[in-house]
Amino acid sequence: MEEQELKQQICQICHNMWQLGWVAANDGNVTAKLEDGNFLATPTGISKSFITPEKLLKINSRGEVLEGLPGYRPSSELKMHLRCYAEREDIGAVVHAHPPTATGFAVAHLAMDRYTMIESVLTLGSVPVTPYGTPSTYEVPEAIAPYLQDHDALLLENHGALTIGADVLTAYYRMETLELWAKIELNAHLLGGEKEISRENIDRLCSMRAGYGITGRHPGFKRYRDDV
Ligand code: 13P
Repeated sequence: MEEQELKQQICQICHNMWQLGWVAANDGNVTAKLEDGNFLATPTGISKSFITPEKLLKINSRGEVLEGLPGYRPSSELKMHLRCYAEREDIGAVVHAHPPTATGFAVAHLAMDRYTMIESVLTLGSVPVTPYGTPSTYEVPEAIAPYLQDHDALLLENHGALTIGADVLTAYYRMETLELWAKIELNAHLLGGEKEISRENIDRLCSMRAGYGITGRHPGFKRYRDDV
């Protein structure tokens, strides 16, 4: 994809996240990998509603700024993003936001590990809560690293959510799926409690991932992984 097109896609996702109420004030950040191995990153300290293509920064794998408007610095969560790319060759984009229902699970220290909804079983599997880390420090990449090999969506304890994907849209759609599933889980809880899908049917769903062209990792079902 052309760099300019990728920039526009990142901006569209930032705007969507703000409109959906997943980010307040300056919350959230997005990065994407370029074909030359460098990255595009959202700037720090700016509402995702105001992001425009020229405000994005180009950085290298050490987080050094290669291109950017004067006065703009990359997201303070860059260490977290770069760790995702370092751990996973198949990752082309990382999205971080605070969608309120999924973040509610992160604040309650509740993993989303029930296999209750067909779409989330297919695309996400279980979503763990990763240990607490102070934002912008190396505590966050250290906390998420052990989970990255088997998960494409993480809940960050008392913080928010992180999704990764082969491209920007895939990472963003995983955040959409995570938040919708979190809402449904909460509704099911209010309605008397969720009921899990049988193991046999979970297995059938996981075996269908390749047919649907679903990329990435799926916890607990390594035999169905399409990238190993
Ligand atoms: P940045 O503005 O530095 O990207 O930080 C926002 C955020 O959500 C921190 O977790």
